[in-house]
Amino acid sequence: MNRREMLGEGICSLAGLSLLKMSARADEAADDATTAATQFELEPYVNRYWDGGASILCVTKSPARVRVEYGPQNDLKHTAYDIRNGMILAAGVTRHCIRIDNLDPKGDTYYRVAAEPLTKFKTYYGSEYGPEFASDIRPLPLLAATDKSCRAIVMNDTHNRDALIGSALAQTDGKFDLAIGVGDIINDPPSEERTISLMRNIHARLRDIPFLLVRGNHECRGEYANRLDKHYDLPDGKFYGAFTAGPIRFIILDDGEDKPDDNVSYSRLAMFEQYRAEQAEWLKREVNRPEFKQAAHRVVLIHIPLYFDESDLNKWTCHTLRERIMPTLTESGIDLVLSGHTHRSRHIAAGTFPGQNFDIFVGGGPKSESATYGILEAEGDRLAYHMHAIDGRLLAEYRKG
Ligand SMILES: [Fe+2]
Ligand SMILES: [Fe+2]
Repeated sequence: MNRREMLGEGICSLAGLSLLKMSARADEAADDATTAATQFELEPYVNRYWDGGASILCVTKSPARVRVEYGPQNDLKHTAYDIRNGMILAAGVTRHCIRIDNLDPKGDTYYRVAAEPLTKFKTYYGSEYGPEFASDIRPLPLLAATDKSCRAIVMNDTHNRDALIGSALAQTDGKFDLAIGVGDIINDPPSEERTISLMRNIHARLRDIPFLLVRGNHECRGEYANRLDKHYDLPDGKFYGAFTAGPIRFIILDDGEDKPDDNVSYSRLAMFEQYRAEQAEWLKREVNRPEFKQAAHRVVLIHIPLYFDESDLNKWTCHTLRERIMPTLTESGIDLVLSGHTHRSRHIAAGTFPGQNFDIFVGGGPKSESATYGILEAEGDRLAYHMHAIDGRLLAEYRKG
């Protein structure tokens, strides 16, 4: 069973189609998980699982000493902690992020997370721990450039309607290497508690398919928006970046808010223009990296469409980023750009707008009648994207090779 099948089985078990039987140890751990589920505020999940490693995050209800045990299915012989400057982060820490590097891309790795609540902290001698609890044993995914293929489900603008994710998955076999949310998934993160609750719902729908969040303008709003990054292990702490999954080089861009920084709505708290300029410079470097140049396919993920319709050409809607990056994109052999934001779906074939020598797919909105999902598949020289209505009807498709 390959990694994608392992992850897909998790979804099937949700639908009652089959049960994931990992091992006797996993079954035992699953029993434990009934209690464990009540002790993690946010159950462990995986982030940044490329470049030879994976990051495992979770939130505990109270400060805890957390470890990840990982290794082959029946032998989780390795242990990792969240360590900073020689200290295991436990005192005062409920948001945990543990990075594991040097994973074998060919080996199937499993992991579980164990936590010891720090019930009493003393700076020197005498800290005390409550009873340990642990997650169940799960497959640890890893995206690698050596993978022959990559398959992703793409959604956007669900605006907290996580049931749409369930509806989309129900139309598929559930076997994906990643689930991509192209923005406006977590609507105006209002508080830590509510944001965690929203993330919990998303993760419950996806089961073990890791979720990649591309930030949309609504992830930039809400009192907790400026701490949303604490729940994702982002390269260099930025919501933009690049990674390779099989034959695809993914470029993630973050256009921030959809109006100029000095718009009265932002109460003098927006400074996105500087951030966009920074990304434009980063993109120029990225397209010259060997990982980009050698990739068979290049897919850009950006919430606000670079183009949508003719009227859009004259609107502001974040076009300062478009103006900065279009020359780079035009010259770099981009295959696809996947977006959202408009709440109206559209496939914009290459050549529709000036310099647009790649196809653009814009997904729909949060209402059932406009909601969409996309399936991105790459195998060797072949790349395909199918955009569907939430009831499964095919709306538009792209094929290369
Ligand atoms: Fe939206
Ligand atoms: Fe949006």
